[in-house]
Amino acid sequence: MLVIGSGAAGLTLALQTARHAKVMVLSKALLNDGSTFYAQGGIAAVFDKKDSIESHVNDTLIAGANLCDRSVVEMTAQRAKSSLEWLIECGADFDQETSIKGEQRYHLTQEGGHSHRRILHAADATGKEVQTTLQAQVLQHPNIQILERYNAIDIITHLHDNKSQAIGAYVWNRHTESVETIKATNIALATGGASKVYQYTSNPDVASGDGIAMAWRAGCRVANLEFNQFHPTSLYHPQSNNFLLSEALRGEGAYLQRPDGSRFMDDFDSRGELAPRDVVARAIDYEMKRLGVDCLYLDISHKTDEFIIKHFPTIYRHCLDFGIDITKEPMPIVPAAHYTCGGVVTDKHGATDIAGLYAIGEVAYTGLHGANRMASNSLLECLVFAQAAAKHIDKQLNQPLGDITIPAWDESQVCDSDEEVVIQHNWHELRLFMWDYVGIVRTNKRLERANHRVQLLQQEIRDYYKNFKVSNNLLELRNLVQVAELIIACAISRKESIGLHYNLDYPEQLPVSKPSILTPANFIQ
Ligand code: FAD
Ligand code: SIN
Repeated sequence: MLVIGSGAAGLTLALQTARHAKVMVLSKALLNDGSTFYAQGGIAAVFDKKDSIESHVNDTLIAGANLCDRSVVEMTAQRAKSSLEWLIECGADFDQETSIKGEQRYHLTQEGGHSHRRILHAADATGKEVQTTLQAQVLQHPNIQILERYNAIDIITHLHDNKSQAIGAYVWNRHTESVETIKATNIALATGGASKVYQYTSNPDVASGDGIAMAWRAGCRVANLEFNQFHPTSLYHPQSNNFLLSEALRGEGAYLQRPDGSRFMDDFDSRGELAPRDVVARAIDYEMKRLGVDCLYLDISHKTDEFIIKHFPTIYRHCLDFGIDITKEPMPIVPAAHYTCGGVVTDKHGATDIAGLYAIGEVAYTGLHGANRMASNSLLECLVFAQAAAKHIDKQLNQPLGDITIPAWDESQVCDSDEEVVIQHNWHELRLFMWDYVGIVRTNKRLERANHRVQLLQQEIRDYYKNFKVSNNLLELRNLVQVAELIIACAISRKESIGLHYNLDYPEQLPVSKPSILTPANFIQ
């Protein structure tokens, strides 16, 4: 079994599959370098007796503007608690509190869209707890081999009984700077999202949409890529690299403010600061443009110092490093690209259109998130779908590959590039026009402009890729341009505004909204 990606999705799948099989995990950077490690707020699941699965389902459907697949939402909410209990058995330590009756229980925090406190967390560094727990388990597992700094380039397929089947992957070994072929009949893409396609993002560098691009090139459908989630509150500071300021801050009472200290969220939505993210990000964007300011503010200084430092130690320390004491003053904020709601189309087992190829975690489109992901449902999706995929894979594991010959990687026609500047230039151009033209608020004209530019970049990168040896930057740029083209195509195809997709030329929602599904064989730009 080959697992590409070492975040919550990849490592959960590896651990579950390794009970019956040998597993190889590839990570294109260091093992912990993915969005999982940076997750702050927590993981949603019904632990409180006063809460209910039905309520978790309803909140998810409302946040997703009813574009979610209800049966997938139900499956995820139903399996949430047991998935978390598995993680706790693995050693994850979530914050606890003592009830009035003196019982120990999990402290549940609150975020936008949730009508109950239902988020388990480890202060404001939940992802670190999840990642280090899973890592400790995989590193000591005799059936799991980890290869760090290996970039998967493409999935290799062949036709079997008229159906495309995954048989391996070409991978770039960054230690030897050479391309290797790995044979496998069960392969999982757990490569995370594509938020790096935007100029400003809360995501780490690895989030370049590789899995989406690889699956598309291999022949898989993708869906709902127009729904890019912009997190409303990243720290606005030239040196802080869009550090996230968790939604749990608002869940615990922080206010959004204009520069003059006045609050504005109640002017936009009766749920105020706890409206779903699409609503809050659009309100911030609107106020920033209306007032002509570079940032707005988030203020929690009305809570006690003890409360703030106990619940948000990472955010407190990070802001202090930049001269902002959040116990005394508001934090300057701007929205940043945060989460890819669409992705590779899968069924409830994480299986894609290609036999033996799975997609789990942020790379996938399962139907859970609809037009907008509800906070803290993402790590949950990683756990639930990795477990579902593992069960499905267990049934296929003994199918041998036979003596299929995989064509070797051909480098005979390529040479070293002396023009790194081309990659750097295209990279910046892509991320800037995606931010300006395919951002929080879109228009037909902006989308057409973006489409025109992405076609030019596609052509240039294809030529470049044919002629020069691969490098990490070239591989990522090739994937980012591919995903950008698909995001724009999905956005152009949607003639309405819904959830995270807001087009001034179609401000209304259609009576019946459908997922936007793209199929490689029918794709014409
Ligand atoms: P990731 O954790 O991103 O891992 C991707 C892996 O794939 C990495 O190991 C990477 O190296 C590898 N990879 C990528 N491309 C290749 C390739 N070509 N070859 C080999 N390896 C490759 N969600 C929540 O539910 N709750 C939260 O509180 C929360 N907070 C967040 C805070 C921040 C700052 C961010 C950025 C996200 C947050 N999210 C949160 C979202 C959530 O963290 C992610 O959606 C989730 O962690 C994705 O997990 P994953 O396993 O799919 O991918
Ligand atoms: C946050 O802590 O605000 C991020 C939560 C999420 O993306 O689910």
